[in-house]
Amino acid sequence: MARKKIIAGNWKMNTTLKDGVKLAKDVKKKAKLGKNVSVIFGVPATHLHAVKMGIGRSTKLSVAAQNFNANDGGAFTGEISANMLKGISVNHVILGHSERREIFGEDDKMIAAKVSQAINNKITPIFCCGEPLKIRKSKKYVSFVAAQLRKGLFHLSAKDFSKVIIAYEPIWAIGTGMTASPEQAQEIHKKMRGMITKKYNAKIANNTSILYGGSVKPANAKELFSQPDVDGGLVGGASLKAKDFLAIIHAM
Ligand code: 13P
Repeated sequence: MARKKIIAGNWKMNTTLKDGVKLAKDVKKKAKLGKNVSVIFGVPATHLHAVKMGIGRSTKLSVAAQNFNANDGGAFTGEISANMLKGISVNHVILGHSERREIFGEDDKMIAAKVSQAINNKITPIFCCGEPLKIRKSKKYVSFVAAQLRKGLFHLSAKDFSKVIIAYEPIWAIGTGMTASPEQAQEIHKKMRGMITKKYNAKIANNTSILYGGSVKPANAKELFSQPDVDGGLVGGASLKAKDFLAIIHAM
């Protein structure tokens, strides 16, 4: 079977509960999803339950948390656990986003622990990686991203790795309007698939969905998604408007 095509929205710290639920419902109402295409809404923690209820039972639409804590529970003021997500039937979590890495100091070790915690709780991690501009310019981005994969994901067994979704998000393209060209995205996605083949095997690599993120817009989505190793997108700003997000979904 062909690997899954996925359009995920990352709302970040945006929307009120009311606006967020309406946004998800509007997308649900109008989205025409092909057989192998699914949509994930990455929403603020306060919205998870309501958005999940708002979209109802669906095999094609899911809700993702934007973060969680790697510990099972206890004295971690302000944090949420895997078990809490499971309790409201949230089965996806975005991990290792560059904003978590850069602003909140999450390192590879912490992200690896969160990945394991997600897998152990049957939550699908959407693992983000991607290089800053300086590394892109130095041409060392392939080894930079390789190290992120190795340190954040490659501790997993083959069976567990096959449950992971990857999002390549070059930091220089996030929120800047400066998207990677389809060729730039394809180059690194293909390299990542090669790394997965080498670490695991070709079957697992072929089945891994690798999304591109960083200024995905209605105007550039089709070209990005037409690349053979780009299996969808992780969309920030443009996922906040139903019309734009729908246009991106329908570009898949
Ligand atoms: P933008 O689409 O706003 O560039 O954000 C990308 C992103 O960070 C998604 O996780």
